[in-house]
Amino acid sequence: MAKITASVFTSHVPAIGAALDLGKTTEPYWAPLFAGYDYSKQWLRDNPPDVVFLVFNDHATAFSLDMIPTFAIGTAAEFKPADEGWGPRPVPMVMGHADLASHIAQSVIQDDFDLTIVNKMDVDHGLTVPLSLMCGQPAAWPCPVIPFAVNVVQYPVPSGRRCFMLGQAIRRAVESFDQNLNVQIWGTGGMSHQLQGPRAGLINRDFDNDFLDRLIADPAGLAGMPHIDYVREAGSEGIELVMWLIARGAMADVAGGTPPKVKHRFYHVPASNTAVGHLILEN
Ligand code: DHB
Ligand code: FE
Repeated sequence: MAKITASVFTSHVPAIGAALDLGKTTEPYWAPLFAGYDYSKQWLRDNPPDVVFLVFNDHATAFSLDMIPTFAIGTAAEFKPADEGWGPRPVPMVMGHADLASHIAQSVIQDDFDLTIVNKMDVDHGLTVPLSLMCGQPAAWPCPVIPFAVNVVQYPVPSGRRCFMLGQAIRRAVESFDQNLNVQIWGTGGMSHQLQGPRAGLINRDFDNDFLDRLIADPAGLAGMPHIDYVREAGSEGIELVMWLIARGAMADVAGGTPPKVKHRFYHVPASNTAVGHLILEN
């Protein structure tokens, strides 16, 4: 049986990818940010997953206004890093896990969640920056990755409650897969940031830290927060945080088990226009 052993939560920011790719990680602006992931890289080496189920959002790269899936699961054998305007990042191809992804699609759709099945998808910074933060700059990513894209770009976006319930369905799906796999689920995006309009540059440290507290200790209560509160408090792009509730919903305590262990918590401002938050929870 496959098992979800841990969840990882981290912001994504394209400038973080550029800092890594251009060798700027030791510059004074970036060093404190990357230092927050030193523990995480060692933890991942010590706790290597067989598969990462990576919840992320596409930024009008693979999808566009032509097609807006709310939830899309990548079932392909591999996923190419996308060209986001400056050429594709010089990072390895992302290898998928078609068997587990197909099983999760079957199980979650029969569990009443409508997923879009994606057999071809390029993956942008929403997916590659979290991989870089957790893995550094390897010649190949350490394990297969199932990309799971959530629409948080074009309204209407899914509610936190639905994301939390979807995480529970993903847990049931993983646990009904008949191979012994160690699966981690990663929730990415956020924290507070707004890239546009009169409030561009908005950061809300109080909201972000309260969100981290509640994600750890009261995820079911947090899941009831309406989307408008994310936008009002965390900015228009702060809505990316609903994706963290998918990963949190897949943890054992939500299904009646014991609370997860907090292995690492980190918060840093600024990284480009974004507040960066990061958590590692172990079942
Ligand atoms: C930034 C943050 C994002 O989440 C994103 O998708 C693009 C840019 C930023 O802070 O610059
Ligand atoms: Fe983003």
